Amino acid sequence: MITLGIESTAHTFGIGIIEDGTIQANSKDQYTPEEGGIHPSEASEHHYRKADTVLDQALAQTDHDIEDIDCIAFSRGPGLPQCLQIGGTVARSLAAQHDIPIVGVNHCVAHIEIGKLTTDATDPVTLYVSGGNAQIIAYSGGRYRVFGETLDIAIGNALDKFARALDIPHPGGPEIEQRARQGETLIDLPYVVKGMDFSFSGLVTEAQSKIDDVDTDDLCFSFQEYAFAMLIEAAERAMAHTGKDELLVTGGVAANNRLQEMAATMAEERDGQRFKVPHAYCMDNGAMIAQAGARQYRAAGGEELSALGTDPNWRTDQTEVPWIDD
Ligand code: ATP
Ligand code: FE2
Repeated sequence: MITLGIESTAHTFGIGIIEDGTIQANSKDQYTPEEGGIHPSEASEHHYRKADTVLDQALAQTDHDIEDIDCIAFSRGPGLPQCLQIGGTVARSLAAQHDIPIVGVNHCVAHIEIGKLTTDATDPVTLYVSGGNAQIIAYSGGRYRVFGETLDIAIGNALDKFARALDIPHPGGPEIEQRARQGETLIDLPYVVKGMDFSFSGLVTEAQSKIDDVDTDDLCFSFQEYAFAMLIEAAERAMAHTGKDELLVTGGVAANNRLQEMAATMAEERDGQRFKVPHAYCMDNGAMIAQAGARQYRAAGGEELSALGTDPNWRTDQTEVPWIDD
């Protein structure tokens, strides 16, 4: 079975093609704002302009043309409404024009499914850390449940906001990581974990207020230490609570070496537990949508084209995952 997946929730317009569990194509084009954060209307215009090229590139990476596709999957949500619309429209028109079954998939669930496909994780606790999300998710009783999440802003968003105050261009996470390597003194910042939830806005405000008074490399170092320790503490609690022995770290912030190191240490210290990062597929991409779509289509078939809209606030734990057996 060949599934084509379309991702368009935020910065990235991506198309991936998966044939019987093998990734055949993963093409994408990312919108980068000239200044400041993401402008939803500019991002959606970017997706609209790039859709045809990304589709052609993806098909060209395979031996197939569009008529060979058995199922079209698209990111139905959560995400920015205008951006979701573009992916949804491209998916529906391809499905209608070529008479191909279609499914709408949950973006967060897709991050986990591509993580399972590309690492050997089978039933992980997932730490999903990106520009727009910070969640700890694990399968339990028929759904992927959110065991912990940010009470305010996402971790990537927190890093990008702090970076902006340091005049680092968007997205700021990678440069904060570079500067943090030069820092060595830990500066006192707020540490907020409540049960398995955490919060970053106080950390951003406090770190911004210290920029003129302390060494900024030390501040970047301390920001990462505090923010990542909160995430790892909450993830460890979720592992203890669920009894699961794999930790999957994914989303754009999973690229951070210090976060990976802290996750690896935590997993090692919890006897025999395993830590996984789906390196090439952490960022938003079309292959992850194809993988979740393929599993969904196999288990439950296609959906009614006319009833299939987007859902900007679709929560992970509202999503049916009929392909997973208890
Ligand atoms: P989502 O829709 O999943 O929230 P997104 O487009 O907002 O996606 P991603 O593309 O998954 O996010 O990731 C982008 C985020 O990752 C940005 O906030 C960026 O600063 C952060 N990031 C990228 N590389 C690093 C790094 N090395 N260290 C820390 N943060 C990073
Ligand atoms: Fe994402």
